[in-house]
Amino acid sequence: HRRTYMRLRQPNMVPTKRLPDALVIGVKKCGTRALLEFLRLHPDVRAAGSEVHFFDKFYHKGFEWYRDKMPPTLEGQITMEKTPSYWVTRSAPRRVYAMNPSVKLLVVVRDPVTRAISDYTQSASKRPSLPRFEDLALVNSTVGWGGVWSVVDASWPPVRLGIYARPLRRWLRRFPRSRILLISGERLVVDPAFEMARVQDFLGLKLVITEKHFYFNSTKGFPCLLKSESRPTPHCLGKTKGRSHPHIDPVAIERLREFYRPYNEKFYELSGTNFEWP
Ligand code: A3P
Repeated sequence: HRRTYMRLRQPNMVPTKRLPDALVIGVKKCGTRALLEFLRLHPDVRAAGSEVHFFDKFYHKGFEWYRDKMPPTLEGQITMEKTPSYWVTRSAPRRVYAMNPSVKLLVVVRDPVTRAISDYTQSASKRPSLPRFEDLALVNSTVGWGGVWSVVDASWPPVRLGIYARPLRRWLRRFPRSRILLISGERLVVDPAFEMARVQDFLGLKLVITEKHFYFNSTKGFPCLLKSESRPTPHCLGKTKGRSHPHIDPVAIERLREFYRPYNEKFYELSGTNFEWP
């Protein structure tokens, strides 16, 4: 008892809620939940369970409100939060900077075509009457000599969110490139240990999360966890992560690929990383 008392008397041994040191700011449907759940395996990381939406919806509530949403941490532990909509919130870079100019930012990105289908699949699961993906992603437009062409509807959110260059440019106006880690959503699935090693290195954490934590669940088609702090037995992410996607007309896929190509090139150039999306 005496030892516990002595330990807790040292102020840095009392768990305290702190503002985040690192944020997962996006991108929606690229694997942000998987990244956060994997990071939670680390003893020096504590993360808020659900999306806090402070920098987009609740900024008016102030930093004390935000801090109260965080889990208590000990000195040396990293406080984290993930809200993917920060990525596309215009005021978010300025607000995040106001909180902490040396915050570390993590962004998961994935082939924008798959991302769009994933985004659509999520909406369709809530609204079964939703039109087909092809009918929403492509609009018929009369061009030139009266021919009807299908053009990509860049204003449809599932399509628009796959244009990564613009938001990246906005974040780079506030934060140096070195403070932003781009994580490949594809590699997070095929080689989670590799991608998590990059993440731990970026966050200055000792390498704890390794291949020993993962197994590939072939029924689910995704890597799952052998154990975690909350569950000692093997488990996957919930049913809403890793849904099966509907079949999409290859012509529509090709149109989308052509549409994204210049934006992807711009994104590779700005980020200095070639993700080699098809
Ligand atoms: P799908 O459900 O369309 O396959 P987010 O958490 O940002 O919403 O991203 C969800 C996506 O994370 C899933 O989209 C899935 O492809 C991807 N993902 C990455 N790793 C995963 C994992 N280990 N288990 C389940 N989904 C994973």
